[in-house]
Amino acid sequence: MTDKKTNVSIDNSGVDPQTNFSVNPTFAAIVDSRMARRSFLKGSVGAAVAAFIGGSVVGCSSSDDGEPTPVVPPVTSAPLLGFTAVATGRADAIVVPQGYSAQAFLPWGTPLNGSYPPFLADASNSGSDQEQQVGMHHDGMHFFPIDARSDGNNSTEGLLVFNHEYIDNNLIHTNGITTVPRLADEVRKEVAAHGVSVAHIQQQADGSWALVDNSPFNRRITGATPMELAGPVRGSAKVVTKYSPDGSRTRGTLNNCGNGYTPWGTYLTCEENWAGYFMNADADKPREHSRYGVPSANGRYFWETATPAADVYQRFNASSLAATAAGDYRNEPNTFGWIVEIDPFNPDSVPQKRTALGRFGHEGVIFGKLEEGKPVVVYSGDDSTFEYIYKFVSTAPYYKNTAGGHLLNDGILYVARFNADGSGDWLPLDLNNAGFAAKVAAAGVNFSDQADVLLNTRLAADVAGATKMDRPEWGAVHPQTGEVYFTLTNNTRRTEAQTDGANPRAANATGHIIRWNERDTQEATAFDWDIFLLAGDVGTATPGTDLTLSADNHLASPDGLWFDSNGLLWIQTDMSGSQQGEGPFGNNQMLVADPVTRQIKRFLVGPTDCEVTGISATPDMKTLFVNIQHPGDRSTPDNFTSHWPDGGSSRARSATVVITKDDGGIIGS
Ligand code: FEO
Ligand code: CA
Ligand code: CA
Ligand code: CA
Repeated sequence: MTDKKTNVSIDNSGVDPQTNFSVNPTFAAIVDSRMARRSFLKGSVGAAVAAFIGGSVVGCSSSDDGEPTPVVPPVTSAPLLGFTAVATGRADAIVVPQGYSAQAFLPWGTPLNGSYPPFLADASNSGSDQEQQVGMHHDGMHFFPIDARSDGNNSTEGLLVFNHEYIDNNLIHTNGITTVPRLADEVRKEVAAHGVSVAHIQQQADGSWALVDNSPFNRRITGATPMELAGPVRGSAKVVTKYSPDGSRTRGTLNNCGNGYTPWGTYLTCEENWAGYFMNADADKPREHSRYGVPSANGRYFWETATPAADVYQRFNASSLAATAAGDYRNEPNTFGWIVEIDPFNPDSVPQKRTALGRFGHEGVIFGKLEEGKPVVVYSGDDSTFEYIYKFVSTAPYYKNTAGGHLLNDGILYVARFNADGSGDWLPLDLNNAGFAAKVAAAGVNFSDQADVLLNTRLAADVAGATKMDRPEWGAVHPQTGEVYFTLTNNTRRTEAQTDGANPRAANATGHIIRWNERDTQEATAFDWDIFLLAGDVGTATPGTDLTLSADNHLASPDGLWFDSNGLLWIQTDMSGSQQGEGPFGNNQMLVADPVTRQIKRFLVGPTDCEVTGISATPDMKTLFVNIQHPGDRSTPDNFTSHWPDGGSSRARSATVVITKDDGGIIGS
């Protein structure tokens, strides 16, 4: 896009670039096998879900060998999905079903800590102000009950932790971006508008929610906050920088898209389209840059040009400028592309980049079902065209009393291969695995050590022979059964010859949702999958099922995905501006699905030019938090396409939405 006033060209178009041109095969078109998942629901997990949703099984489910295994009880046995679906629409407003209310909360610029500088409606706040205010472009989010470290039952007070994915350069400053080279304070503000907010919130007597001013928990983590590298890549020669000659530290987290949270009460934020923030003008870019799309000419927002120059901005120039890596920032991009663990209950904690989970365009992260004495299992998708879905299995077992971030520092990272017959395999990306080592040798690839594998996770997955997916976005794990669901948002570049069972449509503009069950145990290396739904217009059918989309639930570009504690699956959409403007779908929306019956209803429609992304709830499921990102994202500095949430002629602001049921009931009932 181009800023009208200055003709500064800011390329936001390539935020999900294709950088996978590897030759590992997509499967030949396989027409019949993909949906015919005869064994998929025959297994007890599907049966247990069916019984659970039907209200007849609460407390145990059967495993394949017939042994009962404990499950988490739902918070209600009341009938769910009783609301009337909302219609598609293009209002500049939040629309929720009759009987529900929605309030905007904690919009971009809300004073959060420090001296609590007020948000100025003309966006003239300084970089220093932004460092003390809620960031821009809300995304993944989690509500931690204030007693999360003990009972975890508090539904009226907690820490709301949420991501800020990127910035709208036309809205963040009064007149957009003014010059290149960039003014340092504009860059300071933009860096500070990224990252994560921790907000201590409390429900008031009238039922509304408010920020707890002066709470020591309120915190901004930004694109410049000091962080540590943890796990196998810590200390690698490829993460040595002028800032951290021993390769142990870096500054900031960027493009924080989806999120996760750990069983031990910490937050996980995911670095998605981070590569575009850097530039590397070297003639020969290392594979750690080229395979991820680090550009040659300039970073997305020209941060490397900030004037007066400062080290914290010069690091976005990843060219080789000094005699050694300890003298420049050639390795700075290698300190991004990770999942970052943040302890929201310790405001002084240093965020930890968990390198064992791999380096790619992390959309989100989700834990598999927990079992005492078994490894933890963590899933994450790489949201770029033809990229992959991964699973991490910890080396050490999980015990509730000793669990912590160390579990994420040591384990095996696998990548998914979806076979045509409905089976699947987790392929290890581990140099100690003879099969993987043989593939590496056969491919003529050299990995110096496991840190090198992790730094080049995408290349390792190419070599392993993973299945190229239609842009994996969020995952969700059923809280009772452990069944895993993943959104595949769209991929218009897939040709007919490139279709396969798991990605069955060429020119897939509307996306789909895939799901699987691990064989026997969560850490198994084999699984069984099927397609849960094909998204599209009214009349779109999912083969092999009874699902045909209607006016109550047609959708495109599924992205955010979350299971509530009652086992309902919430689906959020991220359609492009043109898909919202010209398609049959209206504005971006949120739907809720029964995973067994595939009954799906539209629950929310967002304001103009927004994305609906990020969702969490209080433990009692009576307050739902949803994020609205980039309302009015086709605005220019003198023409706002949305005025949500403040109305009038205001500039639009990303914000959280607090949803309650007017009768005080369960959300989704
Ligand atoms: Fe940030 Fe893949 O959405
Ligand atoms: Ca997303
Ligand atoms: Ca998306
Ligand atoms: Ca987004």
